[in-house]
Amino acid sequence: MIPTRITGISRLVTNVPGGEGPLGIVERAVIDIVGGRVTWAGASSEAPPPQGTIIDVEGRAVMPGFVDPHTHLVFAGDRASEFGLRSSGASYASIHESGGGIMSTVRSTRAATDAGLLDGSVARARSMLATGTTTVEVKSGYGLDLETEVRILEVAARIAAEVPIDVVRTFLGAHAVPAGVDRNEYLDRVVNEMIPVCAPLARYIDVFCDSGAFAVEETRRVLEAGVAAGFRPRIHAEQLSYTGAAALAADMDAASADHLDHLDAAGAEAMAQHGVVAVLLPGAALSMRADPPPYRLLEERGVTVALATDCNPGTSYWLSMQSMAALAVGLFGMTPAKAIWSATRGGALALEESRKGIVTAGAVADLLVIDADDPIHLVYRPDTDLVWGVFKSGERVV
Ligand code: NIG
Ligand code: FE
Repeated sequence: MIPTRITGISRLVTNVPGGEGPLGIVERAVIDIVGGRVTWAGASSEAPPPQGTIIDVEGRAVMPGFVDPHTHLVFAGDRASEFGLRSSGASYASIHESGGGIMSTVRSTRAATDAGLLDGSVARARSMLATGTTTVEVKSGYGLDLETEVRILEVAARIAAEVPIDVVRTFLGAHAVPAGVDRNEYLDRVVNEMIPVCAPLARYIDVFCDSGAFAVEETRRVLEAGVAAGFRPRIHAEQLSYTGAAALAADMDAASADHLDHLDAAGAEAMAQHGVVAVLLPGAALSMRADPPPYRLLEERGVTVALATDCNPGTSYWLSMQSMAALAVGLFGMTPAKAIWSATRGGALALEESRKGIVTAGAVADLLVIDADDPIHLVYRPDTDLVWGVFKSGERVV
């Protein structure tokens, strides 16, 4: 294994706690990589003697690759007309009730071939990688029958063979009750048929717990069955209304509670107590014209905050984590440094990937080289392509 040294780094975002600011910035830095792992990172004045290949980034900033911990990347079709209707006042709920919304994507996804589903998903994953994302979570949930839920999770697994991006899979059979099926009958199918078959295909189980979706007690039933089958839980919580889903996430020691536009203080406190990561989704908040989630409350209670694209054809057809960081600054009042932290280390913690989103000895060498000398440019110039290079497990892939 030939070692690689990245040198000429103006500012290195390490995300190491206790460093300078939330990002643990090191100025004039180098990174040593062997076998896809960081072996040393720090100030060039303190670096060990160089070995192997040297890559000089000539005064650019380097940071961990973005980790996007919430997407619905595998789907067919689009919902542009629905987007237009919502923009002129139609509600998400009314579109759902008239057979559109999630069910419209379910119809397109069931009708798609595996090759068609894979092509669309790979194209989106390529854009994500090109904008600096090196790990992406991908949920099922547009099948809502055993066969299609399995197909979605299998397609998700094939993305990484086409694009050098890590895919973490989540089973979201409880995304909606499919048309024409009794809700208790559907929940029985999720618990008795889908969970046992999907358990080997995904790390996480998620439920859309909300008004118009699943109730807290239904969510608990699905997640408990999922945990018994070996999944770790996460929840779509407090998005359209307050339901108590965040408290349930805490009670179940879930990896994350996501959306949280209607989170209350008790929910934030419970999440803090149980170490549940808050995954905020500014693309969805913008498209739904939602009130922002109580970001300051989360900060005050010491909850770990992550950002994600929520990439889906209904409420958030976004691919870029740079965009999410910029939106989080503008819409949620995050500082640029916290937004960049939340889009990297925050996402890694939401996916329980302790070696990602950080640049220190032992970390996975997933790195983003920015075409600027300070990472703040990512949110300061949000529509400029600032990706100069991307390293996945130490290999240059962009
Ligand atoms: O995260 N909230 C539920 N699920 C998705 C939207 C799904 C859809 O509308 O297709 C979300 O926003
Ligand atoms: Fe979602």
